[in-house]
Parts: sequence; structure tokens; C-alpha cells
Amino acid sequence: MRDVDKIKITDAVITSVAKSDDPRTQEILTAVIRHLHDFVREVNLTSEEWQTAMGMFLKASKISDDIRNEFILFSDTLGVSSLVDLMAEDFSEGTETSLLGPFYVEGAPVLGYGANVIKDNDGIRTIMQGKITDLDGAPIPGAVLDIWQNAASGLYQVYDDSQDDDNLRFRTVSNENGEYLFATIKPVPYPVPDDGPVGDMLRATNRHPLRSSHIHFKISKDGFKTLITEVFPDDDPYLDEDAVFGVRESLITEFSEAPCDEIPAVTGVERPYCNVHFDFRLAPT
Ligand code: BEZ
Ligand code: FE
Repeated sequence: MRDVDKIKITDAVITSVAKSDDPRTQEILTAVIRHLHDFVREVNLTSEEWQTAMGMFLKASKISDDIRNEFILFSDTLGVSSLVDLMAEDFSEGTETSLLGPFYVEGAPVLGYGANVIKDNDGIRTIMQGKITDLDGAPIPGAVLDIWQNAASGLYQVYDDSQDDDNLRFRTVSNENGEYLFATIKPVPYPVPDDGPVGDMLRATNRHPLRSSHIHFKISKDGFKTLITEVFPDDDPYLDEDAVFGVRESLITEFSEAPCDEIPAVTGVERPYCNVHFDFRLAPT
């Protein structure tokens, strides 16, 4: 292995990982080495540029902690998280999936059908309702919906101590007809954290850091695959330029201002409000 050159070095490194006991580890590492080496040759990477990249990783590790993970944010903003998600997806299998994102918190309070989580939040009051069904359209009662979104400030409660604990974060359970209903505020676009190396990358490429507005859902029920997805208002200006490439056509829906008289009685919300209908289809395990 002493006669390496610009080309032979790739095989030399690939051979060095060929003794892995795990075939999948070997497959992945081999491809990583091959693509990395090809990349260096393709762009004629200089030592200075490689040092810059290493400095960026150091900066990313220093800014990361249990809540903020700059490496995941790189994966998100470079479309890798969405690509992995899309690769796992089978379109015949019910509602499309989308990113979990970094703001999911386990153990949110469980609220009943018709829950009103608006409290003192500013924003456009919104009633959201729909059905959880299986792939044949049969209702699924007792499905647990974990729901979280940002406040009118753009911030999620986990990042904002000025919001009440569990603000705009709750669980609810589909009723005997598989239906859910809650009152919230319409979500707003918000920036992904851009005070670290991901922000440097976005600025260097004249990209904005904004995510298209959305409500997150994680829906679980024994016997069905857990669905992790997001629902997007159809009038959001960033649908076609979401910073993390999470928007899917089938997850865009109308937040309409059509009146719906029976619902305020359930939730205690008066007009004007947006009214959103969205049904979720779960695939069996
Ligand atoms: C989010 O949807 O909350 C999110 C997803 C990826 C990166 C940052 C935020
Ligand atoms: Fe989000």
C-alpha cells in the first residue's frame, strides 16, 4: 500500500474496510469512501478548503447539545433527512410522511376531543378536524395523536421560556368514529437556527432559513405503523422553498375561513377562525 496515487488510494482505503464483520457496515463505508474520494477529485479540493470544512465541523460540534444538533440541521438543510424519509416511504401506504424535526417532546399532556389549546396565544384561530382511518377507509378509534407547532412569535415552546410549559404541544385520542378535533392557532413560517455553521452555509448560498408553516403530527395505534408527518396551509409563501425540503403536495391543505357553526360550541372558540379538514390514513404493521 505504499504505491498509492490520486487514483489507487481509493481502492487502498476500500480494502482497509473490507474485513468488517457486518456486511451492511462494509457496504456503507465502501460507498462513503468512494463518493468522498470522487468528490475531492471532481472539485479539485484544496487543503485550505478542506481545513475550512473541518473548522465548520468543529464549530458545529461546539454549538450542538441535547436540544440543538447542528449535524442534523446540516442533514435537514442539505435535503438528506428528507431523502432518507422519502426512500423509506411507500406511496401505497397511506398518508405521506415528513420530518419529525428537533422540537418534538415526549409526554405532552393528553387532552380530550375538542381540546382548545389557543389559550392566550396570538394568531389566527383555527379549528382542525378529521378522521384517522386504515388503508380501506375504516375508522381507527383510540389512535393517539401527538401534535406540536410554533407560536405566533415563530418559536416552539422548547426554545422559548416565555411560553407556558407545553404551549401548543399536546396529545389527543381519536373518538369512537376515528375522529379528532381541536382548536389552535394557524402556524406561521419560522427560521431554522441560523446562528451557527448551517447559517453560514445558507448565507453563502443566498438561501433564507425559513420553514414553510406547518403543524406536526405523530400518530400511533397498536397494529399500525406510527405516522410522523406535517400539515401545511396552502397559502404559505414558502411552500416551494422550505429550508428543509419537508413539504409534500399531499400534505398541503386549505385553512379556510368558511363558518362552521357547530364547532365553536365544542371548543369554546368564536368566529372568525380558519377551518381545516385533514384525514390521516395509517398503514398496518
Ligand atoms: C421543524 O419542523 O420543526 C424543523 C425541521 C427540521 C429542522 C428544523 C426545524
Ligand atoms: Fe416544525
